Amino acid sequence: MHYPYQIKNLAEYHAAYQRSIEDPAAFWASVAEHFTWRKKWDTTLEWNFNEPDVKWFQGGKLNITENCLDRHLEKLGNQPAIIWEPNAPDEQPRVITYKKLHEKVCQFTQVLKNNGVKKGDRVCLYMGMIPELAIAVLACARMGAIHSVVFGGFSAQSISDRLQDAGAEFIVTCDGAFRGGKDIPLKNIIDDALIGNQTIKKVIVCTRTRTPVSMIKGRDVWWEDEMKQVEEQGITYVEAEEMDAEDPLFILYTSGSTGKPKGVVHTCGGYMVYANYTFVNVFQYQPGQIHFCTADIGWITGHTYITYGPLSAGATTLIFEGIPTYPNAGRFWDIIDKHRVNIFYTAPTAIRSLMAFGNAPLEGKDLSTLEVLGTVGEPINEEAWHWYHEQVGKKRCPIVDTWWQTETGGCLISNLAGVTPEKPSWATLPMPGVQLLLVDENGNEKLAEGDETISGNLCIKAPWPSILRTTYGDHERCRINYFATYPGLYFTGDGALRDKDGFYRITGRVDDVLNVSGHRIGTAEVENAINMHAGVVESAVVGFPHPVKGQAIYAFIIYQGSHQQNTHGSDDLIKSDILQTVTRVIGAIAKPDKIQLVSGLPKTRSGKIMRRILRKIAEGETDNLGDTTTLLDPGVVEEIMNGKL
Ligand code: PRX
Repeated sequence: MHYPYQIKNLAEYHAAYQRSIEDPAAFWASVAEHFTWRKKWDTTLEWNFNEPDVKWFQGGKLNITENCLDRHLEKLGNQPAIIWEPNAPDEQPRVITYKKLHEKVCQFTQVLKNNGVKKGDRVCLYMGMIPELAIAVLACARMGAIHSVVFGGFSAQSISDRLQDAGAEFIVTCDGAFRGGKDIPLKNIIDDALIGNQTIKKVIVCTRTRTPVSMIKGRDVWWEDEMKQVEEQGITYVEAEEMDAEDPLFILYTSGSTGKPKGVVHTCGGYMVYANYTFVNVFQYQPGQIHFCTADIGWITGHTYITYGPLSAGATTLIFEGIPTYPNAGRFWDIIDKHRVNIFYTAPTAIRSLMAFGNAPLEGKDLSTLEVLGTVGEPINEEAWHWYHEQVGKKRCPIVDTWWQTETGGCLISNLAGVTPEKPSWATLPMPGVQLLLVDENGNEKLAEGDETISGNLCIKAPWPSILRTTYGDHERCRINYFATYPGLYFTGDGALRDKDGFYRITGRVDDVLNVSGHRIGTAEVENAINMHAGVVESAVVGFPHPVKGQAIYAFIIYQGSHQQNTHGSDDLIKSDILQTVTRVIGAIAKPDKIQLVSGLPKTRSGKIMRRILRKIAEGETDNLGDTTTLLDPGVVEEIMNGKL
């Protein structure tokens, strides 16, 4: 494939950026015309951030799978679309060509239809990292069903909440998933999520681990049986549904500073254009290259840069089932050598955890096929950046530091590999079409005087094609969360610096959202889970810096279990019970790293918890706690400091 909109040098970047700001509609129309549309759009852009109401390519008709599959068949039919590397290195990898993937997607589309799924229905996908997950995603898109992938690490309760919020009636899952030495019983977790559920009509179960499962008559069917039936009918092609550019493509749940996770909604046309545009430009993808993004398809990174971005560009995408340290810390490097990977995209947490093993796992690895490296999900510290650059990239490969969010659909700030300058730990320049500004607490734009570097809250002035359109079932929540803090602006929730060259460095969240190992977790969500434990009176959760995870969770808990519970166990047992509760309610990814049992929490006279103080204590910064005189009981601070873990 040829990408006429691929930026080739710095001057082209500046020119593209300029054009994208002067006339965003004309700029994106000139990109969008290189895609397959059943009918061309009437209006390129209409928007109003106050509602918010954003519409791209209105009146346009398309199906994203025709862009990811059908349009490649003639020239790239026999090229690998997906290379799958299983969890255990001695199991055979699978290579799926575009032709085969197209066929499988069509067949699974038919399976969905046979099981009663209709256009617009919500389908929850709770699967491991096997090609069938990508096939299920694409099959939903092909028939116009809205997929909602739930990461395989979430608990039954989390699944149940998401099913209810999305009004999902269909689930596709696996018997289990291999992850390192573990076998996660996905179907059993689904069964727990479905206890008492009256709305789920069908559960399609794909075989992977041969974990024993209970198949419920009339509700549960096997993926393989359903596919066989379609294959036996000789079906290899199913017509793609004609979608409106603004029809929803998927819902993806993500954590915010309040309440339960919200369902971020992305739509077909704008998301497709932006996923493709950023994939081609940020990574500077060249036809034939092998792209390896280590994220899980359960996160936005896996949606955009394992699935839709690469496939819409006719690329070869590598899907990896396992973890970086299984069977040993050389696993990524072995995969890169085995499959001759050219582009490698991972999270700073993974880099830091591998760095901790020293350079021995890299010895004897070739890595000479690597051309571009990338990071995503959290700020990368300079030490990790240099290690990645020297030990993995052998100082040959540019590193793209891509800043974005579930809500943004694709990268908004990043250097373009080898095309625009890189600066360790800086995400650098905005993508074309992305109009950034830094504001103070009151929403006033901050502007630099001379060459100074300034800091502020990161906002965006105007829409790019893959901005979220709503939060599922609650548009007001979308408005309040993203568009009401600073009227007329999209607020990212992140703080940032901007230097004299206009480069941005993301400093982290400024709201009550934590970023643990690149996973977004709301403090309120963790507190709610902890508070469900019978002996917990109240809790407050904050983040603290962690050398590998970036941030870790510190929970201060007032515990007054019953007499029986107190005699039932020591503090250690109480803490384990609380961890078990969090695992049950959210999933193991939200488990606090430190739990401190306290007799009180620092509160203002009006009853508000002073998190600022707790954050400082958790960070070990006890000298300068700021003003504590407004506290209801200043003595409590002393006690908490003395008991700090
Ligand atoms: O705080 C920023 C951080 O991750 C948040 C978004 O999380 P999520 O929606 O889960 O998406 C992660 C993958 C796109 C952001 O608000 N973040 C993401 N990328 C970077 C980052 N922080 C610093 N540098 C990055 N490159």
